[in-house]
Amino acid sequence: MRRLDKGFVVWFTGLPSSGKSTVANGVAEKLRSMGYRVEVLDGDWVRKTINPDAGFTREQRRIHLLRVAWIARLLARNGVVVLCSFVSPYRDVRAEIKKIIEEENIPFVEVYVKCSLKECIRRDVKGLYKKALRGEIKHMTGIDDPYEPPEKPEVTVDTEHDSVEVNVFKVLNKLKELKLVK
Ligand SMILES: Nc1ncnc2c1ncn2[C@@H]1O[C@H](COP(=O)(O)OP(=O)(O)OP(=O)(O)O)[C@@H](O)[C@H]1O
Ligand SMILES: [Mg+2]
Repeated sequence: MRRLDKGFVVWFTGLPSSGKSTVANGVAEKLRSMGYRVEVLDGDWVRKTINPDAGFTREQRRIHLLRVAWIARLLARNGVVVLCSFVSPYRDVRAEIKKIIEEENIPFVEVYVKCSLKECIRRDVKGLYKKALRGEIKHMTGIDDPYEPPEKPEVTVDTEHDSVEVNVFKVLNKLKELKLVK
């Protein structure tokens, strides 16, 4: 096991069904095989366990994500590599998250998981776009809620045109370039 004095946080943001969990899990698997201590915090899991009462309004999403940021901070300051996969649609909230992490001198790497809305609707992994398009659910990012893409992410992965493997490699390469992993 490689022991880092301090970990770091990789934050995956993108539309629902863009591939955040898929790429984050691929990166996690690779880092674990390299001997790093890794934790994945994923929207679905956090909403089921820690934040079962979280809603989808702008403020409810904000509070939900700031809690996640604090958990990531506690883990990372103890040497864990924390991979966070959340739609996290608002730019100002992502800036708040980054601040919480960096206040503790923990490196924060933003990954924009890019995929067109059309392709995300085609994938519709959880059937939520279908429901939103029928008006059965509200606050669906991409349909009746906005998504604000990052302006200067450390990495952009294009899941529409590049394979999962290529994208996992791209993230790892950036982590190496930033000297966060060897
Ligand atoms: N190049 C690619 N990278 C990532 N996922 C891809 C790619 N090509 C196809 N997919 C498929 O797209 C889907 C992405 O689903 P995934 O659950 O990872 O999205 P998500 O962004 O985590 O969505 P949510 O916000 O709903 O959790 C998966 O079924 C995956 O197999
Ligand atoms: Mg996911």
